[in-house]
Amino acid sequence: MSRAYHSPYPRDFMWGAATAAHQIEGNNTASDWWAREHGRIPNAVAEPSLDAANSYHLYPLDMMLLANAGLDTYRFSIEWARIEPEEGYFSKVQLDHYRRMIDVCQETGLRPFVTLHHFTNPLWFTQSGGWFVPRSVDRFIKYVEAVLPILRQVDYVCTINEPNMVGMWADFARVGPDIGLPEPDPIVVEHLTAAHKEAVNRLRAVGLKAGWAVATQAYQALSGAEMTAAQYGYPREDYFLEMAREDDWVGVQAYTRTVIGNEGPLPVSSSARTTQMGWEFYPEAVADGVRNAWRHARVPIIVTENGIATANDQERIEYTAGALDSLASCLLEGIDVRGYLHWSALDNYEWGSYVPTFGLISWDKETFERSPKPSLAWLGEHAVQSRRAAGGAG
Ligand code: BGC
Repeated sequence: MSRAYHSPYPRDFMWGAATAAHQIEGNNTASDWWAREHGRIPNAVAEPSLDAANSYHLYPLDMMLLANAGLDTYRFSIEWARIEPEEGYFSKVQLDHYRRMIDVCQETGLRPFVTLHHFTNPLWFTQSGGWFVPRSVDRFIKYVEAVLPILRQVDYVCTINEPNMVGMWADFARVGPDIGLPEPDPIVVEHLTAAHKEAVNRLRAVGLKAGWAVATQAYQALSGAEMTAAQYGYPREDYFLEMAREDDWVGVQAYTRTVIGNEGPLPVSSSARTTQMGWEFYPEAVADGVRNAWRHARVPIIVTENGIATANDQERIEYTAGALDSLASCLLEGIDVRGYLHWSALDNYEWGSYVPTFGLISWDKETFERSPKPSLAWLGEHAVQSRRAAGGAG
């Protein structure tokens, strides 16, 4: 790994992996996604999450595998639907569970990076208007107030994961365009923004570093289509980056690029190399996302998600190496990037299907036994070498 010895990463750069509760914990039965998976609210998905990776119980093992590999940060989400399964009832047992998770994370040698909302809502919330109604803001803030006491000694808190995607898909029954993404619903966006801003105030008041994580799409204009690309990108990405200007940091979540022609987004070229998601294999997406975030938000950036859905772990390493090379250029340009958190620690429930595998660790569907993939060791070694090159303990 001689490349890492010329690492531009600062000593306290965070190296880690990320997950989301619903995608790995299993049995998130009070959530709107669970109801959707079981046909109680539209639209149908290919398969339900069920036990998922049983990380609700096995999280100490997952954390240990990450720490042993050399990573120092674990981003995970706490689940609103478990904590407040009925409006106004906050389960002490579930709050304790997540506090224990934070403790175990720290005891394992990992910095906990906690997300408060990662796509799922309690079913009661969605059935009574979801993010479409003004009281969604108040409801979210009550949840934030309830979790504040368990967040002591956590450095980083993400209020809402990918508000731009939440704005696009808050209505499960919505049908998107054949190519590209729908425009986020303006009412939902207004409520998400208000909820985020108020949550940031509350989190900061107790000394936490607050921000939100934006799905960056690396919009690339063909010559002559610059205006179309700017108009397309603003409501889907740039707005959310601008809304982070007063925050402590902004998260970049990058996977692929979107090429924009005069009529809007173009389909992935038939000659392009693609991933299990049908997305173009484009490791440089992370640098595009970081540069766009820097342009619009001007606050410290953390790559809170980046990865590839592939059944071939060598391809994951190839993708990640390319992504980290492109990220290194951003640091050399002077952009303030504070961390890289790979998506995902584990193979997980990819919002309707277990087929795409993003994980650094796989698991047995019967026994839940974990099998770290070579990519985990590779990323951990990269972290160790980078820390060493920066004069840290390795
Ligand atoms: C989400 C994850 C998801 C990943 C890959 C991000 O949009 O935050 O939950 O699994 O991308 O699609």
